[in-house]
Amino acid sequence: MGLRLVFLGPPGAGKGTQAKRLASQRGLAHVSTGDMLRSAVARGTEAGKKAKAIMDSGGLVPDEVVLEMVKERLDTDAAEGFILDGFPRTTKQAEDLEKTLADRSQALDAVVNFALPIDRAIQRFAGRRSCPKCGEVYHIEAKPPKMHGACDKDGTALVQRPDDSPTVIRTRMAEYEDKTLPLILYYMREGLLLEVDADGDIEEVYGRLDHAVSQREAGER
Ligand code: AP5
Repeated sequence: MGLRLVFLGPPGAGKGTQAKRLASQRGLAHVSTGDMLRSAVARGTEAGKKAKAIMDSGGLVPDEVVLEMVKERLDTDAAEGFILDGFPRTTKQAEDLEKTLADRSQALDAVVNFALPIDRAIQRFAGRRSCPKCGEVYHIEAKPPKMHGACDKDGTALVQRPDDSPTVIRTRMAEYEDKTLPLILYYMREGLLLEVDADGDIEEVYGRLDHAVSQREAGER
């Protein structure tokens, strides 16, 4: 049976970057609510229409909209193990997740908190570029594409996310501190929290993550 993990951390901490790699190494589904919402916005679905203005302003999309999207994945490709990246983000979402998993006779194995000072996270946004077609994420210095400005996978011109502007970043950080930070204590109390120092290059952070998750697995066996 695959692992069931949650990735927590401030915007820009590198959750998505590390989740893609660990998911592919361990055969887990990468369930990113941010990616799902961006895809819904691009396709103009009902959920996308509800989410667009909220995401553009840096606020949080209503809990029930996000929960429905997550449930759909838990019943399909994520049924055998997953990394939830960017969910839960509020105490209500954490409680709903626990109930949703219990209904399926499942539980989380660990919650990884990517610890990064907020000023270091802010530095990462300026250099982030992503592919509007496949969602691959780059950084102009830390993870540059092979060809300037083009996606390695499909050659599409890379773009900056609309919510990576300085004003929206301030709102996203405030939302994180107000609504998501309390989850660290919530999961610490549940005995699920694993701290990973996210200040370092992508390889270093992956090494720390892999080590922390492997130790937890060994402890569970
Ligand atoms: P979402 O897409 O989840 O955004 P986020 O949590 O703000 O996280 P980011 O994607 O900005 O950062 P990340 O930690 O994944 O970092 P990344 O790996 O890209 O959510 C967007 C919006 O959707 C929210 O604001 C909200 O409106 C809505 N939403 C989503 N989930 C929701 C929920 N559950 N409830 C309600 N609303 C929700 O890395 C950042 C950059 O740094 C990249 O360029 C990367 O290449 C680079 N990088 C990564 N690691 C390193 C490193 N170690 N060193 C140097 N550079 C690095």
